Amino acid sequence: MANNISLTRYLVEQQRVDGSIPSQLRLLLEVVARACKSISHAVNKGALGGVLGAAQTENVQGEIQKKLDIIANEVLIEANEWGGHLAAMASEEMEDIYVVPNRYPQGEYLLLFDPLDGSSNIDVNVSIGTIFSVLRKPDGAAVSEADFLQSGSQQVAAGYCVYGPQTTLVLTVGRGVAMFTLDREQGSFVLTQEHVTVPEDTQEFAINMSNMRHWDAPTRRYIDECLLGAEGVRGKNFNMRWIASMVADVHRILTRGGVFMYPWDKREPHKPGKLRLMYEANPMSWLIEQAGGASTNGHQRIMDIAPAQLHQRVSVVLGSKNEVERLTRYYAEDAAQP
Ligand code: AHG
Ligand code: MN
Ligand code: MN
Repeated sequence: MANNISLTRYLVEQQRVDGSIPSQLRLLLEVVARACKSISHAVNKGALGGVLGAAQTENVQGEIQKKLDIIANEVLIEANEWGGHLAAMASEEMEDIYVVPNRYPQGEYLLLFDPLDGSSNIDVNVSIGTIFSVLRKPDGAAVSEADFLQSGSQQVAAGYCVYGPQTTLVLTVGRGVAMFTLDREQGSFVLTQEHVTVPEDTQEFAINMSNMRHWDAPTRRYIDECLLGAEGVRGKNFNMRWIASMVADVHRILTRGGVFMYPWDKREPHKPGKLRLMYEANPMSWLIEQAGGASTNGHQRIMDIAPAQLHQRVSVVLGSKNEVERLTRYYAEDAAQP
């Protein structure tokens, strides 16, 4: 890999090679990266910038918003509304879609985001992130919420930015996964890893164990077997990590493998899961698949799910392929029981 390839140069060269990043999409990705840079600065300032703590508001999911949830949402909207590359945006923090105002030209893309993922970690100085997904606006009349209801396999770009010890932007346009580290002196994202791959096997799982008593049978079986370690059917010991920021957990899996699970559970049985399909599970699933991993809700590939609602939730199992396939098998065996 050549030294010091900026995100801009990477996008231009990628377009030259295979035409996968037309100029509107390139502008979009650069603007998202710029927004992430400014969110990263706000995160970095922390208490000095007055950005920590709760706001006095709830979002559409009924969750108390943190100040940074709102700041990150505003940064992404303000950065993206004027460039002419977007028709509309959707966010975890907004009930309705945000249509690009009439005073700006409308572009051909739709942008979805979780502006600040891992909100419970903001105030304790643990890694958090921004997740985004890009769809093409279907042809036709004025943009509407229905235009967003496309399966994950329709995504044209997806990624996240993790605000941790380093700020790293991770991106796919369907030709593998590339990572860019923010160089604060240069003020730009620099390519630091290409052709990211998730090992097919792993000895590390990520799940919130405090929910164990609420899990379904296949999840219990899988984790029970991991916990038995070398003495059990798996014949090897497993390690556990749970950061409670999906971005940070997925970043670890893209870096060294593992399996991440946030399954359906009995606490709120009417909800299919905790995580949101359109702006959490879909973009992460595409990145993981592009890196050679797999992603399922236990019964179906996540990116094949036809969404019915913008904010719908989904059960998630993703990461190292052989582990995801094993869990899928456990779900099938459980469903086949009389
Ligand atoms: P968000 O902060 O955007 O609401 O997302 C938090 C999500 C996800 O990032 C993380 O994996 C999970 O919630 C943590 O949930 P628990 O607190 O139940 O462990
Ligand atoms: Mn989130
Ligand atoms: Mn969030």
